[in-house]
Amino acid sequence: MILADSDETGNMSVAEVEARITNKTTAIMVTHLWGTPADIDALLALANRHGLALLEDASHAHGATVHGQKVGTFGHTAAFSMNGPKPLSAGEGGFVLTDDDDVYHRVLLHGHYNKRCRNEIPATSPMHPYAVTGMGLKFRIHPLAASIALDQLGSLDDYLNGRENVARYLCNQLGELPGIAVPRTPDGVRPAWYGLPLTYVPEELGGLPVKRFHEALLAEGLKEVDQPGSICPLSRFPLFRDPAPVFPHYPHRKRVAYREGQFPVAEQIWQHTLKLPVWHREEDLPLVDRYIDGLRKVIEHHTELLG
Ligand SMILES: Cc1ncc(COP(=O)(O)O)c(C=O)c1O
Repeated sequence: MILADSDETGNMSVAEVEARITNKTTAIMVTHLWGTPADIDALLALANRHGLALLEDASHAHGATVHGQKVGTFGHTAAFSMNGPKPLSAGEGGFVLTDDDDVYHRVLLHGHYNKRCRNEIPATSPMHPYAVTGMGLKFRIHPLAASIALDQLGSLDDYLNGRENVARYLCNQLGELPGIAVPRTPDGVRPAWYGLPLTYVPEELGGLPVKRFHEALLAEGLKEVDQPGSICPLSRFPLFRDPAPVFPHYPHRKRVAYREGQFPVAEQIWQHTLKLPVWHREEDLPLVDRYIDGLRKVIEHHTELLG
């Protein structure tokens, strides 16, 4: 797997992807970070131009749209997580969208050995002989979790409308403040607002380090302001630098020595991101106001935190 840098939105940079395509490339995999769709038109055009599959990780972006079309339906196949706080949550679990029969059958073999595989993989498919055992694994979502998600699906549009209102309100109120920049929504895009990533701009607050700023927000009781840890440049993870210990048969049994500063945009964005949750209910508005007031207070008093 070859990594590419982000653009200024935090999503994958199309130019960076293009620069890394070689004759070994088979697919482009894109995540719609924090629920704001990546530049899907350009990525799709790029994938088509090079005869590559476009795979979407829409785990943050259930129901998000580009020109009215839902993310997860642009590429060849899409995966959605439904764990914990995701826009559509099952507690744990996820799903895959594809219109490719072969991918569908392979997904069944991962999740649903025996009955569903025997019923749904046609006898003519080369996958059919594996129906009883699948891949030897059972990544099936728990039926109760699936039913929780199915129940919520009918309310997803309401949740998204609520989140959109709260996100707009937060952006309007916070957009004027020094020290933080609110995200820009590209034209024609409707995010799912899994989170509201604020970009911290220390130069506007006398160089106050982000850590100190974050601690002050927490001290104000804004416990859900998060400096994302695991959602970071993937080059930081041993899984991508040195996968061999966990995948002994990994074809390239070598470490990937990412250069310091190889993904400068992703690093810069990650190190300056403070993420807010985006609530969706009317009743949440007083809490939203508490967060706005808390941010305003820390920003107004930032000089007291310097030094
Ligand atoms: C973008 C993205 N993709 C995939 C996953 C993995 O999801 P799961 O834990 O449901 O396997 C996550 C987890 O939160 C995620 O944020």
